[in-house]
Amino acid sequence: MAQHSIQNSLKSLNNIVKQFSSNERPVSNAPNADELQQQLDVSLADQGAPFAALEEMANQYLTLNPDVSSAKFNKLLYSGLNPTALLGDWVTSIGNATMHTYQVSPVATLMEFELIRQWNKLVGFERGEGVMVSGGSQANLIAMLLARHKACPQAKTKGMQKTLVAYVSDQAHYSSLKAVNVLGIGSDNLITVASDEQGKIIPDALEQAIAQSLALGHTPFYIGLTAGTTVLGAYDPVAPCADISRRHNLWLHIDGAWGAPILFSKKHRHLLADSHLADSVAWDAHKLMNVPLTAAVILTREPGLLKAACSGGGSDYLFHSDANAEFNLGERSIQCGRRADALKVWMGWKAVGNNGFEEKIDYLQQLRVDFVARLEQLQNFELLHQPGFLNVLFRYSPDKPISESASKALSIAICAELKHRNVAYSDYASCKGKSGIRLILANADITAEQLQSLLLQCQQIAQQLMDSGNYSE
Ligand SMILES: Cc1ncc(COP(=O)(O)O)c(C=O)c1O
Repeated sequence: MAQHSIQNSLKSLNNIVKQFSSNERPVSNAPNADELQQQLDVSLADQGAPFAALEEMANQYLTLNPDVSSAKFNKLLYSGLNPTALLGDWVTSIGNATMHTYQVSPVATLMEFELIRQWNKLVGFERGEGVMVSGGSQANLIAMLLARHKACPQAKTKGMQKTLVAYVSDQAHYSSLKAVNVLGIGSDNLITVASDEQGKIIPDALEQAIAQSLALGHTPFYIGLTAGTTVLGAYDPVAPCADISRRHNLWLHIDGAWGAPILFSKKHRHLLADSHLADSVAWDAHKLMNVPLTAAVILTREPGLLKAACSGGGSDYLFHSDANAEFNLGERSIQCGRRADALKVWMGWKAVGNNGFEEKIDYLQQLRVDFVARLEQLQNFELLHQPGFLNVLFRYSPDKPISESASKALSIAICAELKHRNVAYSDYASCKGKSGIRLILANADITAEQLQSLLLQCQQIAQQLMDSGNYSE
Protein backbone atom coordinates (compact mmCIF):
# COMPACT_ATOMS: atom_id res chain seq x y z
CA MET A 1 0.00 0.00 0.00
CA ALA A 2 2.74 2.46 1.06
CA GLN A 3 4.80 1.33 -1.94
CA HIS A 4 1.87 1.95 -4.26
CA SER A 5 1.28 5.48 -3.05
CA ILE A 6 4.97 6.40 -3.27
CA GLN A 7 4.96 5.32 -6.92
CA ASN A 8 1.80 7.30 -7.65
CA SER A 9 3.18 10.35 -5.91
CA LEU A 10 6.43 10.14 -7.88
CA LYS A 11 4.47 9.87 -11.13
CA SER A 12 2.47 12.99 -10.32
CA LEU A 13 5.62 14.75 -9.23
CA ASN A 14 7.24 13.93 -12.52
CA ASN A 15 4.43 15.63 -14.43
CA ILE A 16 4.52 18.65 -12.18
CA VAL A 17 8.29 18.97 -12.53
CA LYS A 18 7.97 18.82 -16.33
CA GLN A 19 5.67 21.82 -16.21
CA PHE A 20 7.87 23.57 -13.68
CA SER A 21 10.96 23.39 -15.81
CA SER A 22 9.21 24.17 -19.09
CA ASN A 23 10.75 27.17 -20.84
CA GLU A 24 7.35 28.58 -21.55
CA ARG A 25 6.46 29.87 -18.15
CA PRO A 26 7.58 33.32 -17.01
CA VAL A 27 10.66 33.54 -14.81
CA SER A 28 8.54 35.15 -12.10
CA ASN A 29 4.82 35.72 -12.05
CA ALA A 30 3.63 35.78 -8.43
CA PRO A 31 1.55 38.82 -7.51
CA ASN A 32 2.15 40.78 -4.30
CA ALA A 33 1.38 38.98 -1.03
CA ASP A 34 -2.03 40.65 -0.52
CA GLU A 35 -3.23 39.56 -3.94
CA LEU A 36 -1.84 36.06 -3.61
CA GLN A 37 -3.60 35.64 -0.29
CA GLN A 38 -6.88 36.37 -2.06
CA GLN A 39 -6.04 34.01 -4.90
CA LEU A 40 -4.68 31.00 -3.04
CA ASP A 41 -6.30 29.05 -0.24
CA VAL A 42 -3.53 27.76 2.02
CA SER A 43 -5.78 27.23 5.04
CA LEU A 44 -5.61 24.02 7.08
CA ALA A 45 -8.77 22.48 8.52
CA ASP A 46 -10.07 19.72 10.77
CA GLN A 47 -11.16 17.75 7.73
CA GLY A 48 -8.52 16.17 5.49
CA ALA A 49 -8.30 16.87 1.73
CA PRO A 50 -8.11 14.41 -1.21
CA PHE A 51 -4.75 13.75 -2.92
CA ALA A 52 -5.93 15.63 -6.03
CA ALA A 53 -6.17 18.83 -3.98
CA LEU A 54 -2.60 18.36 -2.80
CA GLU A 55 -1.45 17.73 -6.35
CA GLU A 56 -3.17 20.90 -7.46
CA MET A 57 -1.45 22.85 -4.67
CA ALA A 58 1.95 21.37 -5.59
CA ASN A 59 1.33 22.64 -9.10
CA GLN A 60 0.41 26.09 -7.89
CA TYR A 61 3.42 26.11 -5.59
CA LEU A 62 5.83 25.45 -8.40
CA THR A 63 4.25 27.64 -11.04
CA LEU A 64 3.96 30.62 -8.68
CA ASN A 65 7.50 30.17 -7.42
CA PRO A 66 10.09 32.09 -9.45
CA ASP A 67 11.63 29.75 -12.01
CA VAL A 68 15.00 29.41 -10.30
CA SER A 69 15.91 26.72 -12.83
CA SER A 70 15.84 29.26 -15.65
CA ALA A 71 18.91 30.96 -17.05
CA LYS A 72 16.84 34.14 -16.83
CA PHE A 73 17.01 33.90 -13.04
CA ASN A 74 20.07 35.90 -12.10
CA LYS A 75 18.79 37.65 -9.00
CA LEU A 76 20.50 35.46 -6.38
CA LEU A 77 23.73 33.54 -5.88
CA TYR A 78 22.17 30.34 -7.18
CA SER A 79 20.32 29.42 -10.36
CA GLY A 80 19.66 26.30 -12.41
CA LEU A 81 18.23 22.83 -12.03
CA ASN A 82 20.63 19.97 -11.46
CA PRO A 83 18.89 16.64 -12.19
CA THR A 84 21.50 14.44 -10.52
CA ALA A 85 21.54 16.50 -7.33
CA LEU A 86 17.74 16.60 -7.47
CA LEU A 87 17.66 12.82 -7.61
CA GLY A 88 19.88 12.81 -4.53
CA ASP A 89 17.52 15.25 -2.82
CA TRP A 90 14.48 13.05 -3.44
CA VAL A 91 16.27 9.89 -2.35
CA THR A 92 17.39 11.74 0.78
CA SER A 93 13.80 12.48 1.68
CA ILE A 94 12.70 8.93 1.01
CA GLY A 95 15.54 7.51 3.16
CA ASN A 96 15.06 10.23 5.79
CA ALA A 97 18.36 9.52 7.53
CA THR A 98 19.58 11.80 10.29
CA MET A 99 23.26 12.60 10.52
CA HIS A 100 24.08 12.37 14.21
CA THR A 101 25.27 8.77 14.26
CA TYR A 102 26.66 6.33 11.75
CA GLN A 103 24.09 3.73 12.81
CA VAL A 104 21.20 5.71 11.35
CA SER A 105 22.99 7.17 8.32
CA PRO A 106 25.68 4.70 7.26
CA VAL A 107 26.07 5.59 3.57
CA ALA A 108 25.44 9.31 4.00
CA THR A 109 28.10 9.37 6.73
CA LEU A 110 30.73 7.84 4.46
CA MET A 111 29.72 10.28 1.71
CA GLU A 112 29.98 13.27 4.05
CA PHE A 113 33.48 12.14 5.10
CA GLU A 114 34.48 11.86 1.45
CA LEU A 115 33.05 15.29 0.59
CA ILE A 116 34.90 16.83 3.52
CA ARG A 117 38.12 15.15 2.37
CA GLN A 118 37.69 16.55 -1.15
CA TRP A 119 36.77 20.05 0.01
CA ASN A 120 39.77 20.12 2.36
CA LYS A 121 42.04 19.01 -0.47
CA LEU A 122 40.84 21.91 -2.62
CA VAL A 123 41.30 24.38 0.24
CA GLY A 124 44.72 22.97 1.12
CA PHE A 125 43.96 21.77 4.67
CA GLU A 126 46.15 18.66 4.92
CA ARG A 127 44.86 17.50 8.31
CA GLY A 128 41.49 19.17 7.86
CA GLU A 129 38.13 18.23 9.28
CA GLY A 130 34.61 19.54 8.82
CA VAL A 131 30.92 19.02 9.13
CA MET A 132 28.03 19.88 6.85
CA VAL A 133 25.76 22.71 7.94
CA SER A 134 22.56 24.37 6.78
CA GLY A 135 24.31 27.16 4.88
CA GLY A 136 26.99 29.81 4.88
CA SER A 137 25.32 31.60 7.77
CA GLN A 138 25.62 28.59 10.05
CA ALA A 139 29.15 27.92 8.79
CA ASN A 140 30.14 31.47 9.73
CA LEU A 141 28.48 31.07 13.12
CA ILE A 142 30.40 27.86 13.81
CA ALA A 143 33.66 29.50 12.69
CA MET A 144 33.10 32.25 15.24
CA LEU A 145 32.25 29.66 17.88
CA LEU A 146 35.55 27.88 17.16
CA ALA A 147 37.36 31.20 17.47
CA ARG A 148 35.60 31.95 20.75
CA HIS A 149 36.54 28.51 22.02
CA LYS A 150 40.19 29.14 21.15
CA ALA A 151 40.28 32.59 22.77
CA CYS A 152 38.11 31.79 25.74
CA PRO A 153 37.45 28.05 26.24
CA GLN A 154 35.75 28.66 29.57
CA ALA A 155 32.95 30.53 27.74
CA LYS A 156 31.50 27.08 26.97
CA THR A 157 30.87 26.41 30.66
CA LYS A 158 30.95 29.77 32.41
CA GLY A 159 29.68 32.12 29.72
CA MET A 160 31.45 35.20 28.42
CA GLN A 161 33.90 36.79 30.82
CA LYS A 162 35.76 39.24 28.64
CA THR A 163 35.03 41.57 25.79
CA LEU A 164 35.91 39.65 22.66
CA VAL A 165 36.11 41.59 19.40
CA ALA A 166 35.57 40.27 15.86
CA TYR A 167 36.57 41.95 12.56
CA VAL A 168 34.99 41.63 9.13
CA SER A 169 35.01 43.97 6.14
CA ASP A 170 32.22 46.42 5.44
CA GLN A 171 31.29 44.10 2.52
CA ALA A 172 30.92 40.95 4.65
CA HIS A 173 27.65 39.04 4.64
CA TYR A 174 25.22 39.98 7.41
CA SER A 175 25.50 36.51 8.95
CA SER A 176 28.47 37.69 11.04
CA LEU A 177 26.12 40.17 12.70
CA LYS A 178 23.80 37.29 13.55
CA ALA A 179 26.73 35.23 14.83
CA VAL A 180 27.90 37.88 17.33
CA ASN A 181 24.33 38.09 18.56
CA VAL A 182 23.89 34.33 18.98
CA LEU A 183 27.32 33.79 20.57
CA GLY A 184 26.95 36.55 23.15
CA ILE A 185 29.78 38.63 21.65
CA GLY A 186 27.47 41.60 21.04
CA SER A 187 27.06 43.63 17.89
CA ASP A 188 29.10 46.53 19.31
CA ASN A 189 32.04 44.13 19.29
CA LEU A 190 31.80 43.34 15.61
CA ILE A 191 34.05 45.86 13.90
CA THR A 192 33.45 46.48 10.22
CA VAL A 193 36.76 47.29 8.58
CA ALA A 194 36.96 49.51 5.50
CA SER A 195 37.27 47.90 2.08
CA ASP A 196 38.85 49.39 -1.04
CA GLU A 197 37.02 50.48 -4.21
CA GLN A 198 36.77 46.86 -5.38
CA GLY A 199 35.31 45.71 -2.04
CA LYS A 200 38.43 44.01 -0.64
CA ILE A 201 39.31 44.47 3.02
CA ILE A 202 42.19 46.93 3.59
CA PRO A 203 44.81 45.12 5.73
CA ASP A 204 46.17 48.37 7.20
CA ALA A 205 42.68 49.33 8.33
CA LEU A 206 42.34 45.89 9.93
CA GLU A 207 45.62 46.35 11.77
CA GLN A 208 44.48 49.76 13.02
CA ALA A 209 41.12 48.43 14.18
CA ILE A 210 42.86 45.69 16.20
CA ALA A 211 45.21 48.26 17.76
CA GLN A 212 42.20 50.36 18.79
CA SER A 213 40.53 47.37 20.48
CA LEU A 214 43.74 46.52 22.33
CA ALA A 215 44.05 50.12 23.50
CA LEU A 216 40.56 49.80 25.00
CA GLY A 217 41.61 46.65 26.88
CA HIS A 218 39.45 44.43 24.71
CA THR A 219 40.40 40.99 23.37
CA PRO A 220 40.51 40.62 19.57
CA PHE A 221 39.73 37.02 18.65
CA TYR A 222 38.37 36.62 15.11
CA ILE A 223 39.03 37.90 11.60
CA GLY A 224 36.35 36.96 9.06
CA LEU A 225 37.46 37.38 5.45
CA THR A 226 35.23 36.83 2.43
CA ALA A 227 36.00 34.97 -0.77
CA GLY A 228 33.40 36.33 -3.17
CA THR A 229 31.48 39.11 -1.44
CA THR A 230 27.74 39.14 -1.83
CA VAL A 231 27.39 42.33 -3.86
CA LEU A 232 30.71 42.84 -5.67
CA GLY A 233 32.16 39.30 -5.66
CA ALA A 234 35.42 40.58 -4.14
CA TYR A 235 38.11 38.28 -2.71
CA ASP A 236 39.75 39.65 0.43
CA PRO A 237 43.57 39.38 0.43
CA VAL A 238 44.31 36.34 2.58
CA ALA A 239 48.11 36.41 2.97
CA PRO A 240 48.49 39.88 4.60
CA CYS A 241 45.50 39.21 6.87
CA ALA A 242 46.93 35.80 7.82
CA ASP A 243 50.09 37.61 8.81
CA ILE A 244 48.08 39.96 11.04
CA SER A 245 46.12 37.07 12.55
CA ARG A 246 49.34 35.18 13.34
CA ARG A 247 50.97 38.17 15.01
CA HIS A 248 47.91 38.72 17.23
CA ASN A 249 47.07 35.02 17.62
CA LEU A 250 43.55 35.46 16.16
CA TRP A 251 41.34 32.97 14.39
CA LEU A 252 41.28 33.52 10.63
CA HIS A 253 38.11 32.46 8.85
CA ILE A 254 37.26 32.69 5.15
CA ASP A 255 33.62 32.91 4.19
CA GLY A 256 33.70 31.19 0.82
CA ALA A 257 29.95 30.52 0.75
CA TRP A 258 29.79 32.02 -2.73
CA GLY A 259 33.34 32.18 -4.02
CA ALA A 260 35.22 29.12 -2.66
CA PRO A 261 34.30 26.91 -5.67
CA ILE A 262 36.75 29.06 -7.68
CA LEU A 263 39.29 26.55 -6.31
CA PHE A 264 38.06 24.04 -8.89
CA SER A 265 39.45 26.23 -11.65
CA LYS A 266 43.17 26.07 -12.43
CA LYS A 267 42.79 29.30 -14.37
CA HIS A 268 41.07 31.31 -11.64
CA ARG A 269 42.03 29.69 -8.34
CA HIS A 270 44.70 32.35 -7.83
CA LEU A 271 41.86 34.51 -6.48
CA LEU A 272 41.87 32.29 -3.38
CA ALA A 273 45.42 30.95 -3.61
CA ASP A 274 46.17 31.35 0.10
CA SER A 275 43.11 29.57 1.48
CA HIS A 276 45.34 27.07 3.33
CA LEU A 277 46.51 29.87 5.61
CA ALA A 278 43.07 30.18 7.22
CA ASP A 279 41.87 28.33 10.33
CA SER A 280 38.45 27.66 8.81
CA VAL A 281 36.56 28.00 5.55
CA ALA A 282 32.83 28.16 4.82
CA TRP A 283 31.68 26.69 1.50
CA ASP A 284 28.12 26.49 0.14
CA ALA A 285 27.23 23.68 -2.25
CA HIS A 286 23.80 25.23 -2.83
CA LYS A 287 25.22 28.26 -4.62
CA LEU A 288 27.76 27.77 -7.40
CA MET A 289 27.78 23.95 -7.15
CA ASN A 290 24.10 24.05 -8.03
CA VAL A 291 22.75 21.63 -5.43
CA PRO A 292 19.19 22.14 -4.14
CA LEU A 293 19.05 24.16 -0.92
CA THR A 294 20.39 23.57 1.66
CA ALA A 295 23.93 22.16 1.58
CA ALA A 296 27.10 23.71 2.96
CA VAL A 297 30.15 22.88 5.04
CA ILE A 298 32.44 24.36 7.66
CA LEU A 299 36.03 23.17 7.21
CA THR A 300 38.79 23.48 9.79
CA ARG A 301 42.55 23.28 9.19
CA GLU A 302 43.13 21.27 12.38
CA PRO A 303 41.17 18.22 13.54
CA GLY A 304 39.36 17.89 16.85
CA LEU A 305 38.27 21.51 17.18
CA LEU A 306 34.66 21.07 16.09
CA LYS A 307 34.09 18.35 18.65
CA ALA A 308 35.80 20.37 21.36
CA ALA A 309 33.63 23.41 20.71
CA CYS A 310 30.31 21.79 19.75
CA SER A 311 30.00 18.54 21.70
CA GLY A 312 28.08 18.06 24.90
CA GLY A 313 25.32 15.70 26.01
CA GLY A 314 23.72 12.74 24.28
CA SER A 315 26.09 10.05 25.52
CA ASP A 316 23.36 8.57 27.72
CA TYR A 317 21.21 7.46 24.82
CA LEU A 318 22.69 8.37 21.45
CA PHE A 319 26.47 8.55 21.14
CA HIS A 320 27.47 5.01 22.14
CA SER A 321 31.14 4.08 22.47
CA ASP A 322 30.94 1.33 19.89
CA ALA A 323 33.00 0.37 16.85
CA ASN A 324 31.42 3.18 14.83
CA ALA A 325 31.94 5.96 17.37
CA GLU A 326 34.58 7.71 15.25
CA PHE A 327 32.06 8.02 12.44
CA ASN A 328 29.43 9.80 14.53
CA LEU A 329 29.38 13.27 13.01
CA GLY A 330 26.80 14.53 15.51
CA GLU A 331 29.36 15.56 18.10
CA ARG A 332 30.94 17.98 15.62
CA SER A 333 27.60 19.67 15.05
CA ILE A 334 25.31 22.03 16.98
CA GLN A 335 22.32 20.10 15.59
CA CYS A 336 20.83 16.82 16.75
CA GLY A 337 18.58 15.87 13.84
CA ARG A 338 20.38 16.88 10.65
CA ARG A 339 19.28 16.11 7.11
CA ALA A 340 21.59 13.94 5.01
CA ASP A 341 22.61 16.75 2.64
CA ALA A 342 25.70 14.77 1.64
CA LEU A 343 23.85 12.56 -0.85
CA LYS A 344 22.66 15.30 -3.20
CA VAL A 345 26.10 16.97 -3.16
CA TRP A 346 27.81 13.63 -3.72
CA MET A 347 25.45 12.81 -6.64
CA GLY A 348 25.96 16.20 -8.26
CA TRP A 349 29.73 15.99 -7.82
CA LYS A 350 30.08 12.34 -8.86
CA ALA A 351 28.17 13.04 -12.08
CA VAL A 352 30.45 15.79 -13.36
CA GLY A 353 33.67 15.32 -11.38
CA ASN A 354 36.00 18.17 -10.46
CA ASN A 355 36.41 18.88 -14.18
CA GLY A 356 32.71 19.61 -14.56
CA PHE A 357 32.84 22.36 -11.94
CA GLU A 358 36.04 23.72 -13.46
CA GLU A 359 34.42 23.93 -16.89
CA LYS A 360 31.35 25.65 -15.49
CA ILE A 361 33.38 28.26 -13.63
CA ASP A 362 35.68 28.93 -16.57
CA TYR A 363 32.67 29.27 -18.87
CA LEU A 364 30.89 31.70 -16.57
CA GLN A 365 34.05 33.71 -15.97
CA GLN A 366 34.50 34.09 -19.74
CA LEU A 367 30.85 35.15 -20.11
CA ARG A 368 31.47 37.79 -17.46
CA VAL A 369 34.56 39.09 -19.28
CA ASP A 370 32.60 39.34 -22.55
CA PHE A 371 29.60 40.93 -20.84
CA VAL A 372 31.77 43.59 -19.20
CA ALA A 373 33.56 44.29 -22.49
CA ARG A 374 30.22 44.73 -24.27
CA LEU A 375 28.86 46.92 -21.49
CA GLU A 376 31.91 49.17 -21.71
CA GLN A 377 31.35 49.60 -25.46
CA LEU A 378 27.75 50.70 -25.05
CA GLN A 379 26.91 54.28 -24.33
CA ASN A 380 25.41 55.29 -21.00
CA PHE A 381 26.34 52.23 -18.96
CA GLU A 382 28.53 52.53 -15.92
CA LEU A 383 30.27 49.75 -14.01
CA LEU A 384 30.30 50.32 -10.26
CA HIS A 385 33.43 48.14 -9.81
CA GLN A 386 35.93 46.15 -11.87
CA PRO A 387 34.45 42.64 -11.62
CA GLY A 388 36.82 39.71 -11.13
CA PHE A 389 34.22 37.08 -10.31
CA LEU A 390 30.62 36.32 -11.22
CA ASN A 391 28.93 39.47 -9.85
CA VAL A 392 28.53 42.52 -12.07
CA LEU A 393 27.12 45.69 -10.53
CA PHE A 394 26.30 48.25 -13.21
CA ARG A 395 23.84 50.99 -13.96
CA TYR A 396 22.42 53.15 -16.68
CA SER A 397 23.95 56.59 -16.60
CA PRO A 398 22.04 59.12 -18.73
CA ASP A 399 23.85 61.89 -20.63
CA LYS A 400 22.45 64.48 -18.28
CA PRO A 401 23.53 63.47 -14.76
CA ILE A 402 20.75 62.57 -12.32
CA SER A 403 20.76 62.36 -8.53
CA GLU A 404 21.75 59.20 -6.69
CA SER A 405 18.16 58.59 -5.57
CA ALA A 406 16.82 59.01 -9.13
CA SER A 407 19.50 56.64 -10.37
CA LYS A 408 18.52 54.04 -7.79
CA ALA A 409 14.84 54.42 -8.73
CA LEU A 410 15.82 53.98 -12.38
CA SER A 411 17.68 50.73 -11.66
CA ILE A 412 14.70 49.44 -9.68
CA ALA A 413 12.34 50.32 -12.53
CA ILE A 414 14.61 48.66 -15.12
CA CYS A 415 14.67 45.43 -13.07
CA ALA A 416 10.87 45.51 -12.75
CA GLU A 417 10.43 45.93 -16.50
CA LEU A 418 12.98 43.21 -17.31
CA LYS A 419 10.91 40.89 -15.15
CA HIS A 420 7.65 42.08 -16.68
CA ARG A 421 8.98 41.42 -20.20
CA ASN A 422 10.23 38.01 -19.07
CA VAL A 423 13.77 38.90 -20.11
CA ALA A 424 15.40 38.37 -16.73
CA TYR A 425 14.74 38.31 -13.03
CA SER A 426 17.56 40.55 -11.79
CA ASP A 427 17.80 42.71 -8.73
CA TYR A 428 19.29 46.00 -7.70
CA ALA A 429 21.88 46.41 -4.94
CA SER A 430 23.69 49.27 -3.25
CA CYS A 431 27.36 49.53 -2.47
CA LYS A 432 29.52 52.39 -1.25
CA GLY A 433 26.72 54.91 -1.65
CA LYS A 434 25.81 53.92 -5.22
CA SER A 435 23.06 51.65 -6.49
CA GLY A 436 22.88 49.59 -9.63
CA ILE A 437 21.69 46.35 -11.17
CA ARG A 438 23.41 43.27 -9.75
CA LEU A 439 23.84 40.56 -12.35
CA ILE A 440 24.81 37.17 -10.94
CA LEU A 441 26.25 34.54 -13.28
CA ALA A 442 25.55 31.24 -11.54
CA ASN A 443 23.68 29.28 -14.19
CA ALA A 444 25.74 27.44 -16.80
CA ASP A 445 22.78 27.46 -19.22
CA ILE A 446 23.09 31.21 -19.71
CA THR A 447 24.50 32.21 -23.10
CA ALA A 448 26.45 35.16 -24.48
CA GLU A 449 23.49 35.96 -26.79
CA GLN A 450 21.14 36.07 -23.85
CA LEU A 451 23.40 38.49 -21.98
CA GLN A 452 23.78 40.62 -25.07
CA SER A 453 20.02 40.83 -25.42
CA LEU A 454 19.69 41.61 -21.70
CA LEU A 455 21.98 44.61 -22.11
CA LEU A 456 20.15 45.89 -25.17
CA GLN A 457 16.81 45.54 -23.41
CA CYS A 458 18.20 47.38 -20.39
CA GLN A 459 19.29 50.18 -22.66
CA GLN A 460 15.95 50.38 -24.43
CA ILE A 461 13.96 50.28 -21.19
CA ALA A 462 16.20 52.90 -19.59
CA GLN A 463 15.76 55.24 -22.55
CA GLN A 464 11.98 54.85 -22.42
CA LEU A 465 11.94 55.48 -18.70
CA MET A 466 14.13 58.56 -19.11
CA ASP A 467 11.80 59.84 -21.84
CA SER A 468 8.91 59.55 -19.36
CA GLY A 469 10.57 62.41 -17.47
CA ASN A 470 10.18 60.63 -14.10
CA TYR A 471 13.87 60.13 -13.45
CA SER A 472 15.35 63.45 -14.53
CA GLU A 473 16.00 65.22 -11.21
C1 LIG B 1 29.32 35.76 1.13
C2 LIG B 1 28.15 35.08 1.75
N1 LIG B 1 28.29 34.46 2.91
C3 LIG B 1 27.27 33.82 3.52
C4 LIG B 1 26.02 33.81 2.95
C5 LIG B 1 24.90 33.11 3.64
O1 LIG B 1 24.76 31.88 3.09
P1 LIG B 1 23.45 30.99 3.34
O2 LIG B 1 22.35 31.68 2.63
O3 LIG B 1 23.84 29.69 2.74
O4 LIG B 1 23.24 30.92 4.81
C6 LIG B 1 25.81 34.45 1.73
C7 LIG B 1 24.49 34.45 1.10
O5 LIG B 1 24.25 34.99 0.08
C8 LIG B 1 26.90 35.11 1.12
O6 LIG B 1 26.76 35.78 -0.03
